[in-house]
This record gives sequence, C-alpha cells and structure tokens, in this order.
Amino acid sequence: MTDFLWGAAASAYQIEGAWNEDGKGESIWDRFVRWPGHVLNGDTGDVACDHYHRMESDVALMAELGLPWYSFTISWPRILPRGRGAVNPKGLDFYDRLVDTLLAHGIQPKATLYHWDLPQALQDAGGWPNRDLTDFFADYARIVFDKLADRVKIWATFNEPWCAAFLGYGYGTHAPGIMNAQAAYQSAHHLMVAHAKAVQVYRQGNYGGEIGLLLNLNHLLAASERPEDRAATERVYAETHRIFLDPLIHGRYPEAFYAWLGPHAPQRADDDLSLIHNSADYLGINHYNTDTVAYDVHSGWLKARLTPYAAPGWGFTTMNWGINPAGLRAELLDLKENYGNPKILVTENGCALPDRPDGNGFVADWGRIAFLREHIRQALAARQEGVNLQGYFVWSVFDNFEWERGYSQRFGLVRVDYATQRRIPKQSALWYREVIQSNALAV
Ligand code: NOJ
Repeated sequence: MTDFLWGAAASAYQIEGAWNEDGKGESIWDRFVRWPGHVLNGDTGDVACDHYHRMESDVALMAELGLPWYSFTISWPRILPRGRGAVNPKGLDFYDRLVDTLLAHGIQPKATLYHWDLPQALQDAGGWPNRDLTDFFADYARIVFDKLADRVKIWATFNEPWCAAFLGYGYGTHAPGIMNAQAAYQSAHHLMVAHAKAVQVYRQGNYGGEIGLLLNLNHLLAASERPEDRAATERVYAETHRIFLDPLIHGRYPEAFYAWLGPHAPQRADDDLSLIHNSADYLGINHYNTDTVAYDVHSGWLKARLTPYAAPGWGFTTMNWGINPAGLRAELLDLKENYGNPKILVTENGCALPDRPDGNGFVADWGRIAFLREHIRQALAARQEGVNLQGYFVWSVFDNFEWERGYSQRFGLVRVDYATQRRIPKQSALWYREVIQSNALAV
C-alpha cells in the first residue's frame, strides 16, 4: 500500500482554546456555549486542550506517535475576526507556524477551511441562509491558500456540511441553535455553492494540490421491508447523501426529494449546478455508525425515526452510537457503485468510550483498538473490492470538546487530563503506531 495516507484528525474549536486571544474574533460557538443549557455541564471551548499555546509540544508528541499525516482545521474568525475585511496577521501566523512545525517533524499537513466555527459577525448578517456568505467564504479561502498552499497539498473546504446546516439551522442542537427546516436546506445548498466557489479559487490559483469535501455518511438500514420504512430510509439517505453527492458527482439535484419537501426545499440560482458539478478532487468520508430507519409520522419533517443499530457482538459507544463496522464497507461500496468510484479518504473514524485511566493516567483502551481494527479491516476490504480508497484518519488525536456534549466524550488516541493539560497516549495510540509502521493491519 504505497502512498496510502495514515493519519489522525482534530479541529480548531475542539482543541485550540485561546478563544479571544491575539485578535481572534467571536465565533458562533463562542456565543452558543454561553447560552444556558445548550452545552452539557456548561462546558466551553475557551481553553479546550490549550493547543494554541501548546502547539509545538503537541506536534512533537504526534511525531512520537508516528503519525505521517495530521488533519487540522482553520478557524475563520482567527484569520478574519469579522468574517471579511481586515485580516488578523497573528491568526494566519499561528497556522503558518503549525504547518512549518509539522513539516519539521516529518508530518504532512492536511487542512480544512471550515469546521463549524463561523464568525459571529456573519451570523449577525444572517448566517448560512444568506447567499452572500458563499462569496465571503471564497475570499477567506483565497487568503488562506495564499499563505499556506505552498506547503499544504491536501485541502478540504467544509467538514460535514450536513451537521453545519441541519444541526445548526434545522435541529438547533449546534450553533447557532436555529430550528427551521427551510433555513437548514438553504444553508446546505449555500455550503455547496461556497465549497464550489472556493474550489474555483483554488483551481484558478494553480496552487498545485488537491481539494475536496468531507461528508458524514452514516450507514442506514430500513427497519423493515415495509414500503413506508423503505421510503423513510430513502428520505434520510437523500438528506444526508444525495443533496450533496448528486449535484457534486452527477450534476443533478434530487428533485423528487425536493418536491417532497415542498416549501422547505432550497432556492437555487441558475449557475449553481454547473459550478458544483465535479468540484471535488477527492471525497472525505467521516464514518462512525449505523441507524435503522422507520416511518414515523411524528418524527420531524422527514417523518423518519432513527434507532442506533449495533452489529451482533458489538455494542454502543458513549455517544449511544451503534457499532457496525460493516457499515463503513457498505458506504464505501455505495460510493463506488452509485457515485462513480471517486478518490476517497476516510477522514474521520473513531469512538467515544468510557475510558478508565489507571493511577498514572494511562488508559488500556482495548475496546477502541477493537473498534479501529475492525473498521480499518472493513475499509481495506472495500479497497480490495475496487473502492478507490487512498487514506484513513482516526478521530481524534486528543480527547477534546465534543460540541453540545462538552468534555463528557473521549475520542482521543491521547488522553487529556483537563485539570493539568497533561497528555497521556492511550494503548490505542501505541497500537495505531504499529499499524502505520507495518503499513498494514496488525492483528
Ligand atoms: C464529527 C465531527 O467532524 C467532529 O467534530 C466530532 O467531534 C466527531 N465527528 C465525533 O462526533
């Protein structure tokens, strides 16, 4: 497997802290976490893993763990405190140093422009339902490319646009906490237009690398063969897969689904489709779990009730996500068969488990190893079956801030003791190093 990318990932708001330092502007998450009751235990990302101040030693630790690739995300309000206009040089400088430090340690950087921390000033201008943001995003992208693209050769525009649009504007569990189906679908469409405009900037700028999009594709199983359950499953598939993949890869919208949505369907401009079509050099898949889907007239606008599904012998993570490693293989094969076998990276995979540190803070997380081993095995099996899979990234390098669940969930290969900020590699980090070193699955 020459050139297969092995790595691990993290995101800006979840690890950096320094929420109001060195000229950084306020993000929608900085605002949302201060809204009582919206985040478990009132946790915030104000400090998180304090990575902003510990970046050098964190990178040195990643090198010790043998990570060939590190996937990080850039905080838009650190670069442009108000989302547009004046650039904050100290913000750019942080990522510039991060990239240099990674390369000095022999770690390749992979960067994502947006992982949910929209500048609050742009939310005040209407947020993602406002089409103007598509241009503001492309302007922001150009500033970042001009600074970093000489050294960063794999880019992503958006991480999980479904979450940004639907958890943020539809279900209201993420910032900015809005509950409006039309706003969610409009946001999802604008995120795709913003993605495509940033890709256009990248391609026209001849920056000499690759750029893609990271989608969270959970696997879905109809709860039964009843036509209404199958139709409900198809609607969830449309909302999570088709609205992004159909225009991107096939150059068409899921019109039947938009017709079903009626007034919730997004407004689209004439040129959007040609802009979005073929606007990704690779597809990033974030995959964690499987749900069964049943028709339920009382379950939201999709009339679909999701129930976590665990394969026999597997259980549920502390997120209450069902573990079904074969779901990853099924999703990869679906992309091969129905979406033209694009180049794929698994850009996130991992699990939150009830880690129990010993007296030294060491976690013997054999459950996480079992999870990772079987998911890697399934991903590589799909590769054997012809899926154009070129890399795999564990979520996450460190335990970190898990959004509305605060610090209650631990996904890391490395334990973080939040009281002292001590980093302690878990058993899974040592195991993953061996997998990478042998460039194969160590069993
Ligand atoms: C998806 C997101 O990209 C990331 O922010 C989150 O922490 C993990 N999955 C786990 O939920």
